[in-house]
Amino acid sequence: MKNFLSVHDVADINALVKKALAYKASPFSEKALGQNKRIGCLFLNPSMRTRLSTQIAAQNLGMEAIVFNIGSEGWALEFEDGAIMNGTTVEHVKDAAPIMGNYFDILAIRTFPSLKDREEDYSEKYIRQFVKYAGIPVVSLESATLHPLQSLTDVITIQEAIGNQQSAIGNAKPKIVLTWAPHVKPLPQCVANSFAQWINAWGEADFLITHPEGYDLAEEFTRGATITHNQDEALENADFIYVKNWSSYQQYGQILSTDQSWMLTSEKLKLTNNAKVMHCLPVRRNVELSDEILDGTNSIITKEASNRVWAAQAVLSEILQSI
Ligand code: CP
Repeated sequence: MKNFLSVHDVADINALVKKALAYKASPFSEKALGQNKRIGCLFLNPSMRTRLSTQIAAQNLGMEAIVFNIGSEGWALEFEDGAIMNGTTVEHVKDAAPIMGNYFDILAIRTFPSLKDREEDYSEKYIRQFVKYAGIPVVSLESATLHPLQSLTDVITIQEAIGNQQSAIGNAKPKIVLTWAPHVKPLPQCVANSFAQWINAWGEADFLITHPEGYDLAEEFTRGATITHNQDEALENADFIYVKNWSSYQQYGQILSTDQSWMLTSEKLKLTNNAKVMHCLPVRRNVELSDEILDGTNSIITKEASNRVWAAQAVLSEILQSI
């Protein structure tokens, strides 16, 4: 693996999931793999799970991890080619990225979208500039349109849960529903795009997406999934429900609905096949998801978050083996 920016960088999803679960069973089994190697984790935006799990994963492999909150503590970066830098930006990515390429063996970056300019966000301009100028492998810690480490974690968590409840699902493909949920702020489409992209590529589920009108995700990620505006219909006999808010892709970055009837409740869970509930976190309680669901026995959200370590460890391991 050279970079990890999307599911397209993965040759075999099931093999990567297997590797992650092997690390979960034996976290320090390859402590020598990353010896004398260093990863730089650059955050242009806030994070809890991603930064901690990536550091732990690197340390489990014997790597040194250096975290730099470049968005709040670094020089303001310029990304425009040919920019006359007489404004607020201080350092061009063309100058900063190669230096990081000398300091580190792997560069990991979190860079959120503006939610103002769809074309620019969906070009993945920022992370692609780091790929172009750093000269070392780049790992996405969530980019403008995708969150692949989260999605790999989600597939790991589903696979693990299927193993634990095989009797409930039997030999059929699990029914997985990605449902939109309300939120007070406009959020990126990254997690939903990425989840759809990975579940479609995995190909081992009956996959539905449900959301209010105006919230269609980009077709490049959802192609292959069934899409409906009827949440109750979507939830029928579901084995897994992935809850997430996203702002509109069509009316880019806008909140079109705050309809609280889209929030998952125990009543709605009765429609399902005793579905396991997932969410990437952080979550707004009693806005996106009810207390009764978050504190109930169907939630596998904490397990999901803890699996972030094994997803990151599997990815870093693949990259270390190629450098
Ligand atoms: N799910 C996730 O990426 O969490 P953080 O934003 O806390 O890293």
